[in-house]
Amino acid sequence: MSQTPPLSFRAATPEDIPATLALVRSAYRGEYSRMGWTTEADLVADERIDEAGMLVKITHPSSTILLAHDGAGDLAGCCELVKKDDNLGYFGLFAVDPTRQAGGIGRSILAQAEAHASGVWGVRRLEMWVIWTRQELISWYVRRGYVKTERTEPFPYTDLINGMALRDDLHFAVLEKDL
Ligand SMILES: CC(C)(COP(=O)(O)OP(=O)(O)OC[C@H]1O[C@@H](n2cnc3c(N)ncnc32)[C@H](O)[C@@H]1OP(=O)(O)O)[C@@H](O)C(=O)NCCC(=O)NCCS
Repeated sequence: MSQTPPLSFRAATPEDIPATLALVRSAYRGEYSRMGWTTEADLVADERIDEAGMLVKITHPSSTILLAHDGAGDLAGCCELVKKDDNLGYFGLFAVDPTRQAGGIGRSILAQAEAHASGVWGVRRLEMWVIWTRQELISWYVRRGYVKTERTEPFPYTDLINGMALRDDLHFAVLEKDL
């Protein structure tokens, strides 16, 4: 594994939407995402999120999108945080440029998100939803201290963005960690 580049973190603003959309779409699904070590390309063929959906996440008072830029000012990764209540945060929309994965950027972003959730919001627990088939990704979260709960959440088959699911047995496993 190469050394993790120094990253600077900040909250996204509406001006960041085009670059952030491109990053998320490239990492989650589609052929380009296969350059990374984990992808949903064989599970879903859509665009993951649209401009309006991202604007809500950026502007809603209980949510933020954290961006990680490298020393050259290039967007390397992002994640979403939602304050669900005084004790619980949600982590999602987690993406690292597929050509730059497996170098520690994801680990740095997750650590930054946890620090924000506990230090800024004061929540004591963070949860995330992962498509149940993605065992390599679930193992990655378990190595970061997350526990797979018995809870599940339905897959949004009817709310996909310009595309379709490739399987009809999808749902989310809920993972959580005490911060
Ligand atoms: C999940 C994601 C954000 C992680 O980012 P990243 O920069 O690759 O993360 P890191 O470099 O910190 O960690 C890479 C890990 O992958 C592991 N890895 C590398 N190649 C692997 C492979 N072929 N199979 C399984 N694990 C592998 C490494 O061992 C390392 O884990 P470790 O630190 O516990 O040893 C990134 O892969 C991504 O954008 N994926 C597509 C979008 C997505 O799935 N988001 C999460 C939805 S819940």
